[in-house]
Amino acid sequence: MKAKLEDNNPFRYGCVVEDSFYCPRPLLERQLAGFVRSGQNVVIHGERRMGKTSLINAVVRGLRGWRMLYVDLLHVQTVGDVCRRIVSSVRNLERKATIFEKALKLLPRLRPVMKIDPASGEVGFALDARAAEDPYAVEEVLDMLSKVAGNGRTVVVFDEFQDICNLADAQTMLALMRGRIQFQGDIPYVFTGSVRSRMVELFDNPDSAFYKSALTLCVGEIEQDSFAKFLLARFASGRRRVSDETVRAIMDTVANVPGDVQQLCEAIWGVTAGSVGPEDIETALQVVFMREGDKFESFCERLSPVQFKLLMGIARIGGREIQSRAFLDEAGIGNAASARKAAIRLCELRYVYLFHGEYRFSSMFFRAWLLRRDY
Ligand SMILES: Nc1ncnc2c1ncn2[C@@H]1O[C@H](COP(=O)(O)OP(=O)(O)OP(=O)(O)O)[C@@H](O)[C@H]1O
Ligand SMILES: [Mg+2]
Repeated sequence: MKAKLEDNNPFRYGCVVEDSFYCPRPLLERQLAGFVRSGQNVVIHGERRMGKTSLINAVVRGLRGWRMLYVDLLHVQTVGDVCRRIVSSVRNLERKATIFEKALKLLPRLRPVMKIDPASGEVGFALDARAAEDPYAVEEVLDMLSKVAGNGRTVVVFDEFQDICNLADAQTMLALMRGRIQFQGDIPYVFTGSVRSRMVELFDNPDSAFYKSALTLCVGEIEQDSFAKFLLARFASGRRRVSDETVRAIMDTVANVPGDVQQLCEAIWGVTAGSVGPEDIETALQVVFMREGDKFESFCERLSPVQFKLLMGIARIGGREIQSRAFLDEAGIGNAASARKAAIRLCELRYVYLFHGEYRFSSMFFRAWLLRRDY
């Protein structure tokens, strides 16, 4: 059994990490736990793969007697999608069919039907499709949620919250949600999302219904020394020898983004045995490129020549002052207006994002791949 465990790769990426796969972040955990305990609503800002969802999960798991009602709003397009996601999360929380049935009874407008799969015993449901398209349906759903969550210590998490903006009637929907949530003072709501700029727009713009409706917590990189220590221990758990310098070089290669660091370590694990050295980083990158190269290739095919030049320019020169003469000349772009337009497109495609005046790559692997291509 022990040998088998040691063969297992001790690194995980692309999912919520917990237990030994999770590097503790005591300062953020304390802050978030404090907000939750005092019933405050919180918005968590942070770029992709920084560990927002894992942090929330770790905090709620660590709070005795508390539970999490987790609503994933990724790619919601309609009011019905939002209502169904919330009802699904209630079903996930209340596994007992009788309790869930009671919850459904609180949604008369939506005419819910409970379904039980005879083979698996899985509890499902359906909502009246037309009724669920009326934005006001969300009020009923949030009232039901408050009855379920308000009885005990339940944290409601709305993840990928910025995707509410995909809805045709997003402003009405946001106003209705805010209207309900502000009266549910006994429930701490945590809002988070992976498109920082849109989340900031939702919570920091005076025209937004959610303006100043929650305290802010920023989740950036994991503090370097503790992350390095954590990674060293993960390698050691499988009897791999690695120096502190090599671990720091791994972190540097992907700009210390936790998800990318874990992905690189996972690949390094696969190409090494016994000891790990700095030369293994390049081999592991090649493994990642083999897995993801086709995707990166198709990313490039979507770009116009100017957009591609800008992308290469940001990869090579860096993403500051992309409208300066020096940058334009080196990137081979005619004028500042073209660079500006191309940058808007690269942000829309989420290849890059703007961080304090600097365009940064959303995936450091994409940048590394571009730099190794022979253009
Ligand atoms: N505390 C942590 N310790 C170790 N690895 C972490 C930690 N937090 C995040 N990671 C790494 O980052 C990956 C993404 O984590 P998570 O999904 O929590 O981030 P996120 O910020 O919610 O991402 P997204 O913006 O894509 O939703 C994890 O699979 C893991 O590899
Ligand atoms: Mg997340």
